[in-house]
Amino acid sequence: KPRVLSGMQPSGDSLHLGNYLGALVNWVKTQDDHDAFFFIPDMHAITVTQDPAELRARTRKTAAQFIAGGIDLDKSTLFVQSQVPEHAQLAWVLNCITGFGEASRMTQFKDKSSKGGADAASVGLFTYPILMAADILLYQPQGVPVGDDQRQHVELARDLAKRFNHRFGETFTVPEAFIPKEGARIYDLQNPTSKMSKSAESPAGLINVLDEPKLIAKRIKSAVTDAGSVVAYDKAEKPGVSNLLDILAAVTGKHVPQLVQEFEGKMYGHLKVAVADAVVERLAPIRTRTLELLDDPAELDRLLLAGAAKAREVASKTVSDVYQKVGFLPPL
Ligand code: TYM
Repeated sequence: KPRVLSGMQPSGDSLHLGNYLGALVNWVKTQDDHDAFFFIPDMHAITVTQDPAELRARTRKTAAQFIAGGIDLDKSTLFVQSQVPEHAQLAWVLNCITGFGEASRMTQFKDKSSKGGADAASVGLFTYPILMAADILLYQPQGVPVGDDQRQHVELARDLAKRFNHRFGETFTVPEAFIPKEGARIYDLQNPTSKMSKSAESPAGLINVLDEPKLIAKRIKSAVTDAGSVVAYDKAEKPGVSNLLDILAAVTGKHVPQLVQEFEGKMYGHLKVAVADAVVERLAPIRTRTLELLDDPAELDRLLLAGAAKAREVASKTVSDVYQKVGFLPPL
């Protein structure tokens, strides 16, 4: 089976709809015919300040949502990054083959660091994409299922894989980003030209997987729509309506043109009701199951450690090979 790997940060108290439709849904689909590795990058999370107790809680919460959302531990390996020390071990070597200018060109760092000024940004935030390259390359995956915003990071992983292979001999599989056609970019409901994100100014445009169904419906019904009244897909002129259509397509599995036809002659309000119903119907059972799983954190921790052990079997092979190739002495 071809291998895939992906991760999602334990940021915030819940996954949001973008994480769910842009990534998790796709992960669940790939696990049937791939050797799948999914993980929670808690080491990436500390590139910005975290409260320790909260980070631990969010890591468990994220894991519970993966399982509740359909990650099947008999098919997939699910683990937490910090429990697999090979991630940090490989990241160091990759740091040393990445150009400073090359790292400086990563747009997510520019976006995030510009908010607090260069001194507020940590060096960890700067080398974030290189740790992410290590996450990926350790497992030799063919594919990395992510949303559109991670494209540049996967590109860096590809470049580093090729560079290492060229310098030290064939070592890494060069991975491809698997980006879904529908749901790859979900936008903020109040501000439909910026992507849905935890760091949005107001939570009103955000749908969280763990939100109460009533709140979800309310937020969708208050989504900003556009001038005019015809339900049509036009990202430039009708970003709000197009976002709702994208969401509905991703949730129902229907294609956008088909939905546009279904809503011919109907009003924005009808579309909102349909989206609210579909999203609530999809997320409500995930919320319930997540809360059940969180009732037994010891069991969750046990499952994650078992996942880490499986992950290390693969990751340790890659690190041994790399450490030998770059000229380190044999390990203990
Ligand atoms: P993160 O945690 O920000 O996002 C997790 C996944 O959700 C997708 N996503 C979205 N998709 C559609 N619309 C949106 N509005 C939206 N917001 C987020 C992201 O594309 C991503 O697939 N750097 C990564 C985590 C990471 C990783 C990795 C991923 C660390 N190491 C190795 C893959 C492989 C991140 O911060 O994603």
